[in-house]
Amino acid sequence: MQKILVTGGAGFIGSNFCNINKNDYEITALDNLFLGDRRNLDDDIRFIEGDACKTEDLDKVGPVDFVLHLAGTSSAPMFMGDGLVKGYVNSIESFLTTLEWARKNGVKKFLYASTSSLYGNNPIPLIETQEVTPINHYAVTKRVYEYSAKCYNKVHPDMDIIGFRFMSIYGPNEEAKGEFANLVSQFCWDMARGLAPVIYGDGTQFRDFTNVKDVVQGITLAVRTEKQLGAEVFNIGTGRSTSLNEVVAALEKAFDNGVKAKYIENPVKEGYVAGQHADIGKIQAVLGFEPTVKIEDGIRDQVENVRLDRIRKTSSDELR
Ligand SMILES: NC(=O)c1ccc[n+]([C@@H]2O[C@H](COP(=O)([O-])OP(=O)(O)OC[C@H]3O[C@@H](n4cnc5c(N)ncnc54)[C@H](O)[C@@H]3O)[C@@H](O)[C@H]2O)c1
Repeated sequence: MQKILVTGGAGFIGSNFCNINKNDYEITALDNLFLGDRRNLDDDIRFIEGDACKTEDLDKVGPVDFVLHLAGTSSAPMFMGDGLVKGYVNSIESFLTTLEWARKNGVKKFLYASTSSLYGNNPIPLIETQEVTPINHYAVTKRVYEYSAKCYNKVHPDMDIIGFRFMSIYGPNEEAKGEFANLVSQFCWDMARGLAPVIYGDGTQFRDFTNVKDVVQGITLAVRTEKQLGAEVFNIGTGRSTSLNEVVAALEKAFDNGVKAKYIENPVKEGYVAGQHADIGKIQAVLGFEPTVKIEDGIRDQVENVRLDRIRKTSSDELR
């Protein structure tokens, strides 16, 4: 069986990848538990508590065929205030250390998380060929990943280095991200606690809310393909827009507990992204990707599996 190392494997996307793929690959999840939770991983998955910035921790993994690098500073607010330097160092150091480790250990393919935040307020649909100008430090780190992947692949063309610009991802196992979690999760946790989810503005703003199962599908297709992909970057999304009003309607239907959303004036005066959705033509054409989870189904599944005991502080707590 082929072997995969997943850095950040106890986190939201990482744990879903490991749990879904555990019967098809021999998986090792490595995580320093900065945000992840060991309980996100099924018990039979090999777990190493370790730091992706440290070669000696990566060496504990042993030989692998593929690396999926998801460790890092995983959202823009983490770079605010005192988080700035640590945020950069953790993201860039973990990426480059893991990349070097992978090449020196004969890894066939290195896959990593970029972000759709790179697109900022670009015209939609967002497509990989657009010019991007990162509007926050988080997006800058992901742009650095993409540029360094290209440089690295020129010098070391034997190892593909494939990036994914994830859209707005929701699904199970996000509790440990707390205040940094996706809006769908935050709204879901609010409603589970009988609290009104807070919407900025009139709720017509929209995102390409993508279920984590579809993200796992996209990454797995890239692992499996025999095509040489060099240092390509792919959008992963649904290619559809979902407004916050639609999200709340699906949550209200799933909970059926009488809790309604509260609408407030948008406090974000500059740089607020009014709407985003992806063009997914590239990943469809090259890898055969097709999103499968409808928003109503994904939200119903999340509501059925909500685990309030694992939640850290949420952003809605600050608004009350
Ligand atoms: N969730 C989204 O909507 C989304 C969207 C775009 C991009 N991404 C990117 O995808 C990746 C995974 O995101 P996520 O939502 O699962 O976030 P997450 O925070 O749940 O997962 C990241 C994991 O990495 C671990 N980690 C951090 N630094 C580490 C280090 N130095 N060594 C080992 N482990 C470390 C954390 O403990 C955490 O478990 C991140 O790079 C994120 O920036 C996520």
